[in-house]
Amino acid sequence: MRKKYIAGNWKMNLERKSALALVSVLRERAGAREDVDIAVFPPCVYLAEVVRALEGSNIKVGAQNCCDQPAGAFTGEISAAMLADVGADAVILGHSERRHVYNEGDELINAKVRIALAAGLEVILCVGETLEERNGKLTEKVIGRQLTAGLALVAARELGRLTVAYEPVWAIGTGLNATPAQASAAHAYLRGVFAGMYQEAPAERLRIQYGGSVKPQNAREILSANDVDGCLVGGASIQAESFLGILESR
Ligand code: PGA
Repeated sequence: MRKKYIAGNWKMNLERKSALALVSVLRERAGAREDVDIAVFPPCVYLAEVVRALEGSNIKVGAQNCCDQPAGAFTGEISAAMLADVGADAVILGHSERRHVYNEGDELINAKVRIALAAGLEVILCVGETLEERNGKLTEKVIGRQLTAGLALVAARELGRLTVAYEPVWAIGTGLNATPAQASAAHAYLRGVFAGMYQEAPAERLRIQYGGSVKPQNAREILSANDVDGCLVGGASIQAESFLGILESR
């Protein structure tokens, strides 16, 4: 049985005070939970403080991106080693906003995945098709390519620190969410591709989160769908009651 993993991607939201208020409530109400894995992904400038605020709890902390290079003249970038150095456990890579707003391609995302794993971080690798691609019946082709390319040269021994998030672009921040059947089909397909790359046993262990307009009202249904091992929550993760509502829906 794969333990469910529920992660909150705050994106570029909250300020110091509201971020710390949010984690203090999460710590109090969910910080000791063992039945589910929980992580929050604050903006980088608050990372170290959020790490301190959650120290000793079961809630992990991660970043929303990292540089593909180890160090040097990369103005504005933050390395995976720096994230680990301030206590981050994880990093989200290949999020659709990175792919589509900042034009990150599969090769760059793969370099980030490899450097993050080498730095000891856990990685949530996001994949997902646009509405145009879904309508063109290209979903499997696109998410299969994103998965395969994103994991190129990733060694089997590192897979324990990998989570995949299926996030259809048309469902992110739109209020539209994939039906449980659509999510299950995509997750099963991804698990099959992964099994082809790494064998059945790691594929059985791989957790695949669903992301895209997950809220307390639809979380139970999506979390109980076959092959859905958790969710990556955006909008509903920046308020304690809605994130806790999702955590309590299972
Ligand atoms: P959303 O975002 O929950 O606001 O749709 C999900 C995500 O982008 O990870």
